[in-house]
Amino acid sequence: MNWHIEKTPKTPIYQSIMKHITQNIQNGQLLPGEKLPSERKLAALIGVNRSTIVRVMAELEAKGIIKRQRGSGTMVNDDKWGLSQEPVVDWHQLIQSQQPDEHHQLIEQIKEKLQDSSAIDAYTGELPLDLVPAFDLPQSNWRDFIEADKNQDALGYFPLRQAIANLLAQDDQLTLPVEQLMITSGGHQAIFLIVQALLNSGDAVAICQPSFLYALNLFQTAGIRLFGVPMDEEGMRLDLLENEILKHRVKLVMLNPTFQNPTGTTMSLARRQALIKLCQTYKIPIIEDDAFGLLPFDKRTTAPPLKQLDPQNVIYIGSLSKIIGSTTKIGWISAPPAVLEKLSTARQDLDLTLSIFPQVLANDALSDVTFQDKLASLRAQISARMIYFFDLIGQEFVCHRPAGGFYVWLRLSTDTLTKKQMDEVIAAGILCLPSFIFGDKTPALRLNIARLNVDEIKRLVETLQTLKKAGIC
Ligand SMILES: Cc1ncc(COP(=O)(O)O)c(C=O)c1O
Repeated sequence: MNWHIEKTPKTPIYQSIMKHITQNIQNGQLLPGEKLPSERKLAALIGVNRSTIVRVMAELEAKGIIKRQRGSGTMVNDDKWGLSQEPVVDWHQLIQSQQPDEHHQLIEQIKEKLQDSSAIDAYTGELPLDLVPAFDLPQSNWRDFIEADKNQDALGYFPLRQAIANLLAQDDQLTLPVEQLMITSGGHQAIFLIVQALLNSGDAVAICQPSFLYALNLFQTAGIRLFGVPMDEEGMRLDLLENEILKHRVKLVMLNPTFQNPTGTTMSLARRQALIKLCQTYKIPIIEDDAFGLLPFDKRTTAPPLKQLDPQNVIYIGSLSKIIGSTTKIGWISAPPAVLEKLSTARQDLDLTLSIFPQVLANDALSDVTFQDKLASLRAQISARMIYFFDLIGQEFVCHRPAGGFYVWLRLSTDTLTKKQMDEVIAAGILCLPSFIFGDKTPALRLNIARLNVDEIKRLVETLQTLKKAGIC
């Protein structure tokens, strides 16, 4: 193998060596189980100090890319799945980022203003009541639920698991074997279980910047270090992701590639394929949160889920919250069996039970003969609201036009977005979240357009125009 390493001024040499080794594993020059030259020999071959090679090997071992065995030397790791590797925590880099009080205050302020009936609620991340599909509930009695409970195991109520697998398999979008599907109490519990069962305090997770995950406290509580990777119109930037992987021993990449919360962006197919390749190279599992995946405005333009492209290395999260409302609190995780077992054991250990009631009710809704028509009608109604918003907003603001989901990310023409500006936006009657809540400094607002009727959209756009003239946004 060629050990010539291109030296670049901006990249530390140890990172270039790590990249060279992982690339050679990826292109088959180095095979799983193959022995690497000794540290002394490698240092001589590359022309660096032995201490540099020691660092490279320590980092690659921590990522599970190589294995070191006393007496046998160093070899390319032949385990397929990186999760079984013991994490090496760099305590010195542990950043205890606390959500500033300012964020909390702002959310309280918005919630208070929600009581004002004239306020425009583009804040709440839910469907409005008039869009929630109305399903009649079948006649049932107490005993039916007790009977149904017999059909539930650690992974949840079997008929519901089947109904979800069928729902996702429509239009050949995603085939999930039912034995690899676990019901959770909403998408939120799915994220919580992954953090609890697969991560340790001090672990690094790469997420998009901006991301709704910044608004969740559960990462901070668990001592997880979040590293935000900026996005472009095709989704997470992979050159920047690779930098983070090399710098921080990233353990998981967690993202919401379809109709992202908050930007509404959908990752292109090419970017999805490249992301999968990159994560395979570094043996990093991907967590795909597809909470909005069932809400495309035009099914033909939707890219396949990452889970469909790489079933073995992607853990998939879904939820019914965005299509039938979050009161049922039904979500799911699909993962390879060994991982699923770990997650369901963690749920039992944490004593997080899953009631049979919402599962039976959700199964009734999914089995309703009108379900597909109601879902299609929901998509059409949200799409109509988006079209109306974009017709009115015109060229006045820069905003990405989403291909599905709820959110519009409205970029402001001001240089900043401060708490003071937000106070003015709220005082003008627009309730929404600013970019800084999502870990992003570029001035922008997240607007839930699905939530608004025609009159509210009209008032929203007029108010935004007035605020723009006043130099506030
Ligand atoms: C992208 C995304 N994932 C997961 C969730 C959590 O969903 P659930 O209501 O099912 O807990 C949300 C909620 O807003 C979300 O926006």
